[in-house]
Amino acid sequence: MDQNELKKAVAAAAAEYVKERLHEGMVLGVGTGSTANAFIECLAPFKDQIRATVASSEETHRRLRALGLEVLDLNSVNEVAIYVDGADEANEQLHLIKGGGGALTREKIIAAVAREFVCIADQSKYVQVLGRFPLPVEVIPMARSHVARQIVRLGGDPVYREGFVTDNGNHILDIHGLEIRDAVSLEAQLNQMTGLVTNGLFAARPADLLILGTSEGIRNYKA
Ligand code: 5RP
Repeated sequence: MDQNELKKAVAAAAAEYVKERLHEGMVLGVGTGSTANAFIECLAPFKDQIRATVASSEETHRRLRALGLEVLDLNSVNEVAIYVDGADEANEQLHLIKGGGGALTREKIIAAVAREFVCIADQSKYVQVLGRFPLPVEVIPMARSHVARQIVRLGGDPVYREGFVTDNGNHILDIHGLEIRDAVSLEAQLNQMTGLVTNGLFAARPADLLILGTSEGIRNYKA
């Protein structure tokens, strides 16, 4: 199977996982990216049984609406039962790097609210040490250079994602050259930087379940 087929396989496995846990009034959180898009397509056969969703980006919002699903403002929701999203990297502790698609802030907010966070990824995303994929951070535009200088002091090499504006009107710096041995403490350290909105490390709130697509089949990893 190629990478695309593996993404479709994990998307189907996650849809099955959700279907088995559907309950009345359940709100489903849906992430952003090509794997999440494949997951949205897999919801079609049982969309009428899904009460409502919350979306981690404008693009996902549009796709869910196109399928006929209700998309709620997170502020009007008491509980998100399951949140399904992809990742750029995942390790065995289910710490993730996310934000390749630039939706990290809304993704992190939904992950924080969700009772269960299910990450879906193909085997290329599973790593021993996080950091080969450049770590995205969302910054307030006027703070971009200030944050970049602080990141250099930490030993990272920040690259401005030119021409990209997030759904929140902010900019993205992609940090190259990091070997992340302690994701929890780096996540906290980055959060202290004034002007930095969100960093793409999902370690303080890791995934609860990783559904990984491999050439040998689907593997489930639990935290
Ligand atoms: C978007 C994300 C995505 O989940 C991540 O980039 C993975 O994308 P894909 O499923 O296309 O490989 O964090 O902000």
